[in-house]
Amino acid sequence: MSVADGDFFGLLGPNGAGKTTLISAVCNLIRVTAGEISVFGHPHGELAARRLVGLAEQDVNLDRFLDVEETLRYHGGYYGLDRARARARAREMMDVFDLRAKAQVRAPKLSGGMRRRLLLARALMHEPRLVILDEPTAGVDFELRLELWRYIRRLHAQGTTILLTTHYLEEAEELCEEIALIRSGRVIARDTADGLRAAYDAGSLADVYVKAMGAAAA
Ligand SMILES: Nc1ncnc2c1ncn2[C@@H]1O[C@H](COP(=O)(O)OP(=O)(O)OP(=O)(O)O)[C@@H](O)[C@H]1O
Ligand SMILES: [Mg+2]
Repeated sequence: MSVADGDFFGLLGPNGAGKTTLISAVCNLIRVTAGEISVFGHPHGELAARRLVGLAEQDVNLDRFLDVEETLRYHGGYYGLDRARARARAREMMDVFDLRAKAQVRAPKLSGGMRRRLLLARALMHEPRLVILDEPTAGVDFELRLELWRYIRRLHAQGTTILLTTHYLEEAEELCEEIALIRSGRVIARDTADGLRAAYDAGSLADVYVKAMGAAAA
């Protein structure tokens, strides 16, 4: 499976389909036992590949002892930004994600939506060329969801490649140029939302999903 440079790609599939596993493999967080992965031409385990990817994981894995600003600055440091640049970029990200007022607040004292925003801000600190968002809008309120959509769209318009997983089909339909349905670790369908609707003679992406998963189960 490949995702083109500059694409906005959606991964859909039931719980346990392998979405997070695929992402973890790309990000070198798990050991792959077979196959090869390359990120913009670099083997996925190399530093060059790691630098190009920003990941907002499904689990909110923030360090409970760091405040918002430290979370961002330290992440910048891990990715080789010098002190001044990390500080400036952290401020920029706090402004974009409306976290400035919480700069000195530690993760456990943030609301759920704020943690999601911080997770996304952290993923973007080093200006990755590929941004992977694993269910970024799970548990996010309506307004924030629209805001995140706007921001992700803008990133994409600037040339960033986006890989998104979501259980909200309308979100995939709204945002993604290309969608892959996966089940039991296999891609069972892949096309634009329009292409999928036509191929499955379906009125909506939800119909496509039900039909494709039903056919795969059979
Ligand atoms: N670290 C691991 N070691 C072994 N098996 C794992 C590990 N993590 C996940 N799995 C298994 O791999 C399968 C796919 O899990 P994965 O987390 O990739 O699903 P997912 O598509 O992201 O689902 P969800 O929508 O629930 O997030 C599941 O059966 C899961 O139990
Ligand atoms: Mg998952």
